[in-house]
Amino acid sequence: MAHSARFTLAVAGTAALGVLLAWSPAPTAPLHRTLTDDDGFPIRNQTVIDRCSRCHVVDDEGRMSRVSYLRKSPEGWQLSIRRMMALHGARLNQEDAREIATYLANEQGLAPEEMRPGLFEVERRMDDHDYEGDSDVEFTCIQCHSMGRVMTQRRTKDEWSLVLATHRGLYPFVDFQAFRYAGPASEQDDPRHPMERAADHLSEAFPLETPEWSAWAATKRSPRLAGTWALSGYEPGRGPIFGTMTVHADPTNPDAFTTTATYVYAETGTRIQRSGQSNVYTGYQWRGRSNPGGDSELREVMFVERDQNVMHGRWFRGDYDEIGPDVTLRRASGATVAGVYPMALEQGGSVEVRVFGAGLSSATPADLDFGAGVTVRSVRGPSDGALDVSLAISPDADLGARDLYAFGSIVEGAIVVHDGVDRIEVTPKTGLARTGGAAFPKGYQTFDVIGWNDGPDGEPETDDDLKLGRVPASWHMEEYTAIYDDDDVDFVGTMGQDGVFTPAVDGPNGNRSGNRNNIGDVWVVGTHRTPTGEELSARAHLVVTVPLYIRFDPWRPIDDGRRPIGDDR
Ligand code: HEC
Ligand code: HEC
Repeated sequence: MAHSARFTLAVAGTAALGVLLAWSPAPTAPLHRTLTDDDGFPIRNQTVIDRCSRCHVVDDEGRMSRVSYLRKSPEGWQLSIRRMMALHGARLNQEDAREIATYLANEQGLAPEEMRPGLFEVERRMDDHDYEGDSDVEFTCIQCHSMGRVMTQRRTKDEWSLVLATHRGLYPFVDFQAFRYAGPASEQDDPRHPMERAADHLSEAFPLETPEWSAWAATKRSPRLAGTWALSGYEPGRGPIFGTMTVHADPTNPDAFTTTATYVYAETGTRIQRSGQSNVYTGYQWRGRSNPGGDSELREVMFVERDQNVMHGRWFRGDYDEIGPDVTLRRASGATVAGVYPMALEQGGSVEVRVFGAGLSSATPADLDFGAGVTVRSVRGPSDGALDVSLAISPDADLGARDLYAFGSIVEGAIVVHDGVDRIEVTPKTGLARTGGAAFPKGYQTFDVIGWNDGPDGEPETDDDLKLGRVPASWHMEEYTAIYDDDDVDFVGTMGQDGVFTPAVDGPNGNRSGNRNNIGDVWVVGTHRTPTGEELSARAHLVVTVPLYIRFDPWRPIDDGRRPIGDDR
């Protein structure tokens, strides 16, 4: 019974998808339409034509139904291609899939300015950002995925309507959930169906043709990234990282690079070495993978700034998106400082710091200028690429951040002089973890305790407050009382003393009243003990919810034994 019901749904879904494909602007359009009076990108790649035109009709301007009326992030195109293979039986080998994804991402991508607000999506960040467009439309869409999925695409109005129709075909229940139309409750209410309203709004907010894209399309080129880069970054739970990355050009492909990176976690001295490969799409979107000595494989998603001297983004594990550092790379010419650790230095103290960077040479105290009130006593090294520097901080040094001048350039805010930790903050302020370990992977959440100094005015929470970075902390959980007799804290999982929350197993729990899942809300409390023995505490709200039943890319089963088809090289 259950089986036959599912079968009917599947058939209905497939029939609906056929209609989506058959739709094409060509049949109703005037016979001699030219590109100037209509949107759409002609497809100039023979592999796309060979592999896709069996189903997607090509018109006499070389435009392909559906495909020509979209622009997407590289991830967006890969997702489309995987869906064509998994759901519609498009037959592609690894090489073709890669060529098609690359062609479409390069020729029908987003301009850098268009991509910037959506970076949190491709960088796989948990981000409760504010969407500045229509908040009702946002609410309709974020029921299942982030608004980032939407903001990293551009479409004609017909295509916005069609992707929503595709949702109905693939997920027939959506009409009873997010796309439910109850009709206007009063005369002030918008009479449009939520899908209609979404298509109206999105076609204005994210249209196919924009001045940003036409300008970028004219100037974009393969970036010249070969050389040495100074690496700095920060990983929640593990603190700052510093090192270097060397980028080598691939003689056969101007958009492809190989890399070697060496960096240390400054708090522990743990040294990591990685080698990787990457592709740059649309002239600025770095997508790589690197393999470690002794650490996990990481994906690299970075944004190459237009001056090609800075790239920044996030490296994260493919299996656990939530784990990995934020990274900034600065092109190193000669000796280039990446950063200083520790960076928070107390007035009146003597302190040893390490100055990290690329190509650092031996230096004298006069070569390093940390600003007023900070005296360089000695400089040793470099050893392992870093200089060991003894500093004395004057007892009356002004409170505040200092730039470091060294080797001919300035590192902004390299250190901060303070007079103690006045308060702490737990980041992120709101965390999200997902039960797992039985049918689904666990979704972890890492917290940090960040120290703050009240700044020159001595008042907390004012603009002159000084951020001191990660400070040591102990951790526990408390009930976030949402209902009478709340007991979530006993079931949701465990808070490690390293700041990592590990959720409990997914599925119903017989030991919990009502056989409930191990989900709930708790406070995560971090406590920092200052050198004078004072205990400072702060808390963050943690929501422990169900596993991610709908994955970012559910069409991933096809694998040629090396890596998923259509994935980055
Ligand atoms: C066997 C038929 C078939 C082949 C071959 C095929 N497609 Fe599709 N395509 C479809 C159908 C059906 C839809 C509409 C339903 C959907 O979006 O999944 C579609 C929709 C699309 C869309 C619109 C999805 C969106 O963003 O809303 C894109 C893009 C696309 N195809 C790209 C391609 C590319 C690129 C190829 C060649 C690699 C290709 N297709 C080959 C059947 C096919
Ligand atoms: C019922 C859950 C649900 C809701 C509600 C929902 N989506 Fe989606 N959406 C999905 C899933 C699942 C996918 C992934 C499909 C895939 O993997 O190809 C997706 C994918 C997408 C994509 C990428 C599709 C592609 O082929 O490029 C876009 C764009 C999108 N959704 C837009 C929207 C918009 C706009 C809204 C709100 C009006 C919305 N979604 C609401 C579930 C939903």
